[in-house]
Order: sequence, then structure tokens, then C-alpha cells
Amino acid sequence: MIQQEQSPRPLIQMQAINKYFPVGKEKLQVLKSLDLTINEGEFIMIMGKSGSGKTTLMNIIGFLDRVSDGTYLFKGEDVSKLSENKKSEFRNEYLGFIFQQFFLINSLNVSQNVQLPCVYAGKKNNDEKRRIAEKYLELVGLGTKTKAKVNELSGGQQQRVAIARSLVNDPLLIMADEPTGALDSETGTEIMELLTELNRQGKTIVMVTHDADMKKYATRVIHMKDGRFLEEEVIR
Ligand SMILES: Nc1ncnc2c1ncn2[C@@H]1O[C@H](COP(=O)(O)OP(=O)(O)O)[C@@H](O)[C@H]1O
Ligand SMILES: [Mg+2]
Repeated sequence: MIQQEQSPRPLIQMQAINKYFPVGKEKLQVLKSLDLTINEGEFIMIMGKSGSGKTTLMNIIGFLDRVSDGTYLFKGEDVSKLSENKKSEFRNEYLGFIFQQFFLINSLNVSQNVQLPCVYAGKKNNDEKRRIAEKYLELVGLGTKTKAKVNELSGGQQQRVAIARSLVNDPLLIMADEPTGALDSETGTEIMELLTELNRQGKTIVMVTHDADMKKYATRVIHMKDGRFLEEEVIR
């Protein structure tokens, strides 16, 4: 039997994106005519030195900031035409976020931290929220830590909690800005192996890093400098 290759489904389509920030009376151009398509199933790594515009681009992809010009389509929808409410809905439904500094809430236990996106998405049933949190905590290897305080955990464990939190709404896209930046290299490797496994299971991931050792985990690496894309490497 002939296996038909499924054609790639674009999740993100950006064309001729510019981004300016006002600085005094001037405007600083931080993103310069970027074109970017991300298909479902990819593990994209955006690599570049500090100041190259990576976080600005991630904020735009995550609907936290808007382009100055150019078009950004998410699942075919023109993001510039979405209301703020709709963008929040999209963010809750389709995106999971992981950050360098974890951003966990110390006054909540591990399970409660993981449940937060369910709370924002308006899920009310407490048993269901707990069950979903436990499922993802088990997936990241923290099934025994559901009731622990987050500040009793190691950095690597805290990042796993953050990864579980990013997964609870079963997002289409995981966005990770320097997720290993605050971890030692061994713990960073464990986190990268976990993200790679999630990608193998079908999650689309876009990750920012300035660490060239991370390239091997990606399917595609895009090099960025001074707000521009330089070359692109296809890894697998
Ligand atoms: N809100 C802002 N206002 C003015 N300049 C900004 C703002 N955010 C970022 N910048 C500038 O944009 C450039 C790119 O920043 P950023 O996207 O954070 O880069 P990276 O994440 O690659 O380190 C930097 O020169 C930074 O100072
Ligand atoms: Mg940054």
C-alpha cells in the first residue's frame, strides 16, 4: 500500500513583520521584515544573542504584543483582527508557555499551580481539575509531588511543574523562552529530553535560546541577529 504523506498544516504564518518600539522621540526597529511559517509537529528553535529580538517575536507569536506592520495568521486567522478577548481565549485554548524563571506561585502547591490555566479557561469542576493536573504531573515525572510546596523543589523539578502547567489545556503550541537558562547543564538536558518527547508525541514547540548546544533537539533552527533572520538549518 502506498502511504500518502500528509501535507504540512501551517499553524503560524507571518509575512513581512516589522516591529518598532518608541524610544523617546525616535522609534527603534526591533524586528525587520520577518517571514516565518511554523507547521504543526515542528520543534522550532530561534537562536540568537541577547538583544536580537527573540522575546519580542515570542510576545507577538503569543498574542501578548502586536506587529507594527506585516501579517500574522494563526490557524489561518488574522491576529490583528482579533479582539483582546478573543486573543485571550486563543491564548488559553491553543498556547502553553514555559519561561526561564518558571513563574510558579509559591503560595500554591504543585497541583494548584498546574491547575491555573484550567481556572483561567473557566473550568469549574475541582475533581476534574485535580485529575488533569495529576495526569500531566505524572507525564513529567512528578506524580508523587502533587501536594508539595513549589519552593521545596529543585530548579529542574520546578521547570517540570511549569511544563505540566503548559500542557493542561492540551495546547497546539508550546512556547518556551530560554527554558533551560536558569538550570545547570545536566538538568537542562533532562528538560530538553522531556520537550523532545512531547514533540515526538505531536506537540508543536517554538523555543528561544542562545545556547548552540540545544540545536540537536530541534527539527529546524532559525538564526536571528539584530531583528533579522539569518540562515535556517533543518535538523531532522
Ligand atoms: N518595550 C520595549 N521598548 C523599547 N525597546 C525594547 C522593548 N522591548 C525590547 N526592546 C529592545 O528590543 C531589542 C530586542 O529585545 P528582545 O526581544 O528582548 O531580545 P532578546 O530576547 O533576543 O534578548 C533590544 O534592543 C531591547 O532593548
Ligand atoms: Mg529574550
